[in-house]
Amino acid sequence: MRTTVGIIGGGPAGLLLARLLHRTGIDCVVLESRTRAYVEQRQRAGMLEQGTVDALRECGAADRLDLEGLTHHGIELRFDRERHHIDFPVLTGGRTVTIYAQTEIVKDLVALQLADGPPLLFQAEAIAVEKPERDAPLVRFVHEGREQTLSCDYVVGCDGSHGIAHNAFPAGTSRTYAHDYPYSWLGVLAEVPPSCEELIYARGENGFALHSMRSPAVSRLYLQVPIGTDLRDWPDERIWDELAARFAIDGDWRLERGPITSKSVTSMRSCVHEPMRHGRLFLAGDAAHIVPPTGAKGLNLAVSDVRVLARGFAELHRTGSTGLLDRYSEMCLGRVWQATRFSYDMTRMLHAQPDGDAFEHRMQLARLRRITASRPAAAELAANYTGLPLAL
Ligand code: APR
Ligand code: PHB
Repeated sequence: MRTTVGIIGGGPAGLLLARLLHRTGIDCVVLESRTRAYVEQRQRAGMLEQGTVDALRECGAADRLDLEGLTHHGIELRFDRERHHIDFPVLTGGRTVTIYAQTEIVKDLVALQLADGPPLLFQAEAIAVEKPERDAPLVRFVHEGREQTLSCDYVVGCDGSHGIAHNAFPAGTSRTYAHDYPYSWLGVLAEVPPSCEELIYARGENGFALHSMRSPAVSRLYLQVPIGTDLRDWPDERIWDELAARFAIDGDWRLERGPITSKSVTSMRSCVHEPMRHGRLFLAGDAAHIVPPTGAKGLNLAVSDVRVLARGFAELHRTGSTGLLDRYSEMCLGRVWQATRFSYDMTRMLHAQPDGDAFEHRMQLARLRRITASRPAAAELAANYTGLPLAL
């Protein structure tokens, strides 16, 4: 097999890149190790910056998003049994965010790709990228039990945080910066209308809780839990009680309860690989960097990477210049580090330290108080949450 751009991974990064390339007449092949059913039901975050919505619209993948996406004008911060509204349009000159689940984006992109797009192979597992420095790098992969080779002009690793593309960077050509957080998130989906109009980020006495949503009938909720938490210790009743305690305020508000349809525990990590390119191999999305979910930057970063990359390939296709492609890593990393800093700060501000450090708790409350008392401090949060410019 031969193609111009070989894409490893059919998550949001790989699928969107394929659509953007297809639109500019550049051929590509997407290799995805899992089944279609698996990638379409994997639960992930669901907060889209305006730039993410624009990119999906640009490639004709936003019909359902435009119908079902929920526009949010802010978030709520809760601490000390108080609630505070952070008003995005007022603080950012009109910006908003859209709530639409990542799983739904994946479904929309897969359907388009299978209808008229370049090949998307499921159960096609890449095992190695070879000769990334040469004119025609190769991807070796296994499909239907047979080992095959995809010969490419360029390879893009969109294969997530456990992918193999990064392994093709020779020793000494790349550096990894990582931080592990000392807690996890227990996430649930519940068939109950959200008890709020916008997302609630709460620093409860016992730790963090987040109230998000998937639709007017489905809520998505998260609780900070210790690393190594066993879901068997968290029957539904205990989850609801703990959520209610962490969201509790003085005043009139009630957390509605309903049937829980899924539960999972996620670890929290920040990680950045630098640079994001070696020769003709590029990394995009989780393959290049991961952030903890506080602030929901993962998907938005993946989308901004592939937008920059698609522009680079379009320029090469149109003019023969590799100018933009050559600056890919540098252009993305400014934004990547800003999102890494923002999600690190949000995480550290809202989670209880496992050792219960009372001084640290006071520092968190002082930071939260500053955000709710000072317009510039709130504006800084709103600018980061709604999304910084594409390339910094
Ligand atoms: N060969 C082929 N496909 C692979 C391989 C491989 N060796 N390794 C991993 N994959 C596939 C995974 O099965 C997955 O579908 O690559 C895809 C990577 O997708 P994601 O993990 O979703 O990563 P990405 O597309 O970068 O999306 C960005 O934002 O909200 C965050 O982490 C969240 O997934 C989200 C991310
Ligand atoms: C979600 O809806 O799953 C979500 C929203 C915001 C976050 C994290 C997760 O910060």
